[in-house]
Amino acid sequence: MLDIAKSERNKRISEGGVFKSYLTTEYGVEIETESFQYKISFYNEHTIRVHQTSHSQDCNPYSVVQSPKKISFQVEDNDNSLVITSESLDVVIDKSPILFTFLNKDGKILNQDEPGLGIQTQGEQKTIYKKLQSNERFVGLGEKTGPLDRSGNGYQNWNTDHFAYDIEADPLYASIPFYIGIHNGLSYGVFLDNSYKSHFNFGASNNRFSSFSVDSGDMDYYFFNGSVSEIIQSYTWLTGRMSLPPMWSIGYQQCRYSYYPDTEVLDVAKKFRDKDIPADVIVLDIHYMDEYKIFSWDKERFPNPDQMVDLLKEMGFEVVVICDPGIKTEGKYLPYDSGKKEDVFLKYPDGKYYEGEVWPGWCHFPDFTKEETRSWWKDMMKSYTDIGIKGFWNDMNEIATWGQMLPENIEFDFEGEGATTRKGRNIYGMQMARSAYEGASKNLDGKRPFILTRAGFAGVQRYSALWTGDNVANDEHMLLGVRMVNSLGLSGVPFSGYDVGGFAGNGQSNLFARWIQIGAFSPFFRGHSMINSHDSEPWSYGEEVEEISKNYIRLRYKLLPYIYHAFVQASESGTPVTRSLCIDYTTDDKIYAADFENQYLFGDNILVAPLASDQRYGKVYLPEGEWYEFFTDEQLAGGQEMIREYALEHLPLFIKASSIIPVYGDATQNSKNVGECLELHFYAGTDHSSTEYYEDDGVSYESSNGVFHRRLIEFAPSQKEIKIKEASGNYNSKIKKLKLVLHGFDQNELNNWKHGSIERKCYSYVQPISNFDPFEKDHRDNLKSENVFSTEIAYTNEEMVFNW
Ligand code: GLC
Repeated sequence: MLDIAKSERNKRISEGGVFKSYLTTEYGVEIETESFQYKISFYNEHTIRVHQTSHSQDCNPYSVVQSPKKISFQVEDNDNSLVITSESLDVVIDKSPILFTFLNKDGKILNQDEPGLGIQTQGEQKTIYKKLQSNERFVGLGEKTGPLDRSGNGYQNWNTDHFAYDIEADPLYASIPFYIGIHNGLSYGVFLDNSYKSHFNFGASNNRFSSFSVDSGDMDYYFFNGSVSEIIQSYTWLTGRMSLPPMWSIGYQQCRYSYYPDTEVLDVAKKFRDKDIPADVIVLDIHYMDEYKIFSWDKERFPNPDQMVDLLKEMGFEVVVICDPGIKTEGKYLPYDSGKKEDVFLKYPDGKYYEGEVWPGWCHFPDFTKEETRSWWKDMMKSYTDIGIKGFWNDMNEIATWGQMLPENIEFDFEGEGATTRKGRNIYGMQMARSAYEGASKNLDGKRPFILTRAGFAGVQRYSALWTGDNVANDEHMLLGVRMVNSLGLSGVPFSGYDVGGFAGNGQSNLFARWIQIGAFSPFFRGHSMINSHDSEPWSYGEEVEEISKNYIRLRYKLLPYIYHAFVQASESGTPVTRSLCIDYTTDDKIYAADFENQYLFGDNILVAPLASDQRYGKVYLPEGEWYEFFTDEQLAGGQEMIREYALEHLPLFIKASSIIPVYGDATQNSKNVGECLELHFYAGTDHSSTEYYEDDGVSYESSNGVFHRRLIEFAPSQKEIKIKEASGNYNSKIKKLKLVLHGFDQNELNNWKHGSIERKCYSYVQPISNFDPFEKDHRDNLKSENVFSTEIAYTNEEMVFNW
């Protein structure tokens, strides 16, 4: 008995197999063992794929958009190992059993298979065990709860609808099996490219290994080396980047489950205008539909949707509609009849359509892993796009059904390759978002659509923004949302957000005030709340919170050129809009501490330190460098923790010294009304810095034909020079006036300013609130700086140079 157990155990050790032969290919090597083939291929200098396969491959066709590239590398065949050397990365492959070690060019181990465990198989499940390095940290993995540093925790990837989830719940709606490991001043990334249910263990319940497992399919992963930001660039190069979303979708979006009838929708829109609170979008939740049937309108509540959309447009609003995938199984309902005719629905193995129950009742579900279905969905979407709707919010696409037990034997087309729920479930939401994106882009004839999704998988960023589902109105959720959005940013999804105010439950007014401040510094900025819960409009919590909300929403609009530029960066390099401090301050242990892990950079230069709603004293950590308090311009040395007092309307925000922040000081109403003045704010410092000012029509793809207005701005403090380079591109900028605003500059030095008058001013990004709570009045006057200098000149396309 004992012997059998022992031999079984021996068999289970080293199931990576023993090396038999190898072959050098154009892109890497292929190794044969008794049971497997390993294909090791370079995708670029920093990205290498390790694909263990048996003779029938089982891969994910949806996430990776690149193919292997020829780069220069050498292979050395030693007795016990194969060594692949390239310019930036070396891989040592032990032969018996097969074990991988990845090293940088200094010979330092980035990551290695755990020697005693390596790769193991249990039934269809395969697991790779990686040796836990000293003090190894793990970040990323997309929409996951938990801390920034995930060491000591384990997670599963299995897209799941989870109403009012617990702050430690796992899994949630979207799965991105990509993480970054950090240790000993080194970093590496791993993307497990397999859409079956997968499991990640970052040293949870053990001190020996980190591991990742797939329930079935090939063990197929990509290894990246480089700094954290280089790894994000490589990962988003591999899985694709988002194209620039419409400018209006970056503005404030107002949602509610649900606004109806149409008169209420119009009233809400009008209230924004009457109260002079900028906003771009009104979102329609499920009650716009006739009995929740997608592609239909409730005839009593919304008798003339086209007129309503027109009226909203006249008021400067775009409309986003919710789209659920379930098609009610009811005759004489066009999507049902035509879906059956075109045979677009998911089926059981016996060919019968799968039926599950959701909002409209019993439904069939389109198989978005089939080209014909995506094209059919595009045609169905015409009923929206024809009346001017350009925003599509894809919900319930995990797939969520009553009972929450999607049968595992449903068959998916998978572009003709075939798959069951086990492989298709994690992919479904992403392919629904893809159908919406591709369909709307075609229908809208050159106008950018806005697509939002709840479920997703690696690569979803190519099609859609993502929000973190049904959160709860409390402080823990507000801060968790920040971490999840930061984690999504680390995992290739730059356009994400949370329901500002909290979806489920009723929050207090202070909570809403804080949440809207933080939300103004989130890539996707939308207020939303559940049916029968407290409203989530900026005016729903009394006058004081209304004023705070108005101030921060306005601030969002003033910062649009800065934010839009961050979106340009995301679309060109994958750099997220909200940047966890682990990107730029990777080796600073403090930033991972529970007190500071929620802090992030919004764009290049604004540090946000989210505070819970009733905290009047905020503990903040400023990383190395020099910083400015955003509102007061107080100069602060980095590398220090501090406790500071914050009134309710004062979100802790800091600007890096030497920053350049472009601002539309006169922005009002919506993202189209940004005025004609571009303010460029310069913060004195010692480093040279640069940024770009980028403008295009914000709605079309013409920018890819050169119709943009783009210019480099350089700030060289030691040379006492500001240079605004000549503009490039064929777009006629709306800007007529340039205002330079100088923060932290020495008045004596500025006496040498050579370009007309420069005046000392008091400046405030927001209106300090003074009408409320006399006890806090002192703080409230603190939202302004007494000490900035500014000058105005005409804006031209030629190079402009300023010296002092
Ligand atoms: C889901 C969504 C939520 C929406 C509701 C009704 O719970 O996550 O945002 O309001 O469905 O459509």
